[in-house]
Amino acid sequence: MRRMLVAGNWKMHGALHQNSELLKRIAAEASGLLCEIAVCPPYPYLAQAQSLIEGSPLVLGAQSVSEHSSGAFTGEVAASMLAEFGCRYVLVGHSERRALYGETDAVVAVKFEAAQNAGLVPVLCVGETLSERESGETGAVVARQLSAVLGRLGVVAMRSAVVAYEPVWAIGTGVTASPAQAQEVHAAIRAQVAVLDSGIAAGLRILYGGSVKPQNAKELFGQSDIDGGLIGGAALVADDFLTICQAAN
Ligand code: 13P
Repeated sequence: MRRMLVAGNWKMHGALHQNSELLKRIAAEASGLLCEIAVCPPYPYLAQAQSLIEGSPLVLGAQSVSEHSSGAFTGEVAASMLAEFGCRYVLVGHSERRALYGETDAVVAVKFEAAQNAGLVPVLCVGETLSERESGETGAVVARQLSAVLGRLGVVAMRSAVVAYEPVWAIGTGVTASPAQAQEVHAAIRAQVAVLDSGIAAGLRILYGGSVKPQNAKELFGQSDIDGGLIGGAALVADDFLTICQAAN
């Protein structure tokens, strides 16, 4: 049985006071929910978030990580540092990182490895652009993104990892993939892993991300291969995020 996971990706949003209000509310109301709930604030707020969620069921994640373990890499943050601040999860290969910061499939695979080496659970983000979907390439694009990790690290790497399917055209647009569209891709991701190891595939959590809202979460999470969500905008509004967590319950 896969435990549902709802992770809030705050992206580059937040401020000390706002974070405090948001996390106190979420932490207070998260007890009693069966799903796992993670928050991924920007790096400077990790320490604040770590102390605010202490003793609550919430867990911490980060939004990106360096592919290097230490050294002269100005502006970068190592996986071991994230682990020191209590992170359990780290996103790798978010589409914004791929599109805006040039992260290739190969770099994403190295980041995935760096995260696991530090004891973190990587959340591998995959997904196609609108033009890729319109030209019928969705399956091939997602398979290629997943293959980069499987090829480098083997299927065992998926034993302690999460995959997040985030169609780029659904991120921050208000346009959500239909439950059937999402389920089709989630099933394909699981099948790709199952070819290598059916047990690992059966235990792999695959999240959906892209304009998840209180109104559509329940139907998305009701699909057999959707094991929770990676939430952007709605993760910044306590009521919305909590409603989405309840939908995963
Ligand atoms: P939105 O929920 O704002 O569409 O963002 C999704 C996302 O990119 C989460 O990583």
